[in-house]
Amino acid sequence: MHEPERGAHGSAHAKTILLGEHAVVYGRPAIAFPVRSLTLTAHARAVDGPLRLSTPYHHGSIAAVDDGTAPREEHLAEAALRHTLDALGVAHDGVDVTVTGRIPAARGLGSSAAVASAISVAVARLHGIDLTYEARFELVQFVERIAHGSPSGLDAHATMSPGPIRFESGVARPLVDTWLPPLVIADTGVAGHTAAAVASVRALRTTDKRGVDAAFDAIAALVEGAHTDLRTGDATALGARMNACHSILSDLGVSSPELDTLVDAAHTGGALGAKLTGGGQGGCVIALAPTPADVPALARSLTEAGARGVWPVNGGEEEAA
Ligand code: MEV
Repeated sequence: MHEPERGAHGSAHAKTILLGEHAVVYGRPAIAFPVRSLTLTAHARAVDGPLRLSTPYHHGSIAAVDDGTAPREEHLAEAALRHTLDALGVAHDGVDVTVTGRIPAARGLGSSAAVASAISVAVARLHGIDLTYEARFELVQFVERIAHGSPSGLDAHATMSPGPIRFESGVARPLVDTWLPPLVIADTGVAGHTAAAVASVRALRTTDKRGVDAAFDAIAALVEGAHTDLRTGDATALGARMNACHSILSDLGVSSPELDTLVDAAHTGGALGAKLTGGGQGGCVIALAPTPADVPALARSLTEAGARGVWPVNGGEEEAA
């Protein structure tokens, strides 16, 4: 612990799930990558008077959050702020938090986890505390429970980890010395709500437990295979696994016409594989380019097919910026 500061900041990045979403909620493994081109930074300042909060999703006072007119991300930001103050054992006043940067909300990119992560670090630092990884994770998970109901913990870890991770049954491990596949994220522009998507899979499982568990096992096998592909750098095999995963996720009811359109466009644009990423029912797809040199053309095809935003991952970020 060091002397409290007048101002402090904390940052977090977006994430993309390569393989394993939904099945990961039921203890199966998943692999996720950081998206460093999409980041948020929270700036916390000591002020006289009540709490103040401003985020890219909404600008205004906490009162606007309380009156119910602010968007969902703003509620999550407020929850992160208040919960961090509770964890620090300090009063709910005297802090101004401004979050800058951009992670599109409700697109399966981890915006809710990143908002909470950035705010908790900034506010704790303002009070002279550098949160441990575990303490930060718990604060983010608190907010993720509000956002998603029963989050696996994957989003919280993936938005905090500097590199790719493999996550399983609550434990995140860094994937070291791995090949970094040249991926492109493309946004349908349609909001996806992870809580609703997770609930729909749960409902399907109550009517067909055997079928849904078999789907989760098939996804788990794809994750295991992908883990090997990442060690050997086998782009063709990884692409085929991504395609197979998208088709399983479609059968589970979490794709959408817009997601399928972008997956098709990715294939037309030369991708070796493509799938939805995150909760689905809206949000984004990820597509695998054959080589880093193919990323710009793949990104262009996705934009021409109607993607509202495209973000390269693992190389090509500078060209796209
Ligand atoms: C959401 O980004 C990923 C899901 O698997 C939910 C979770 O892991 O909590 C759909």
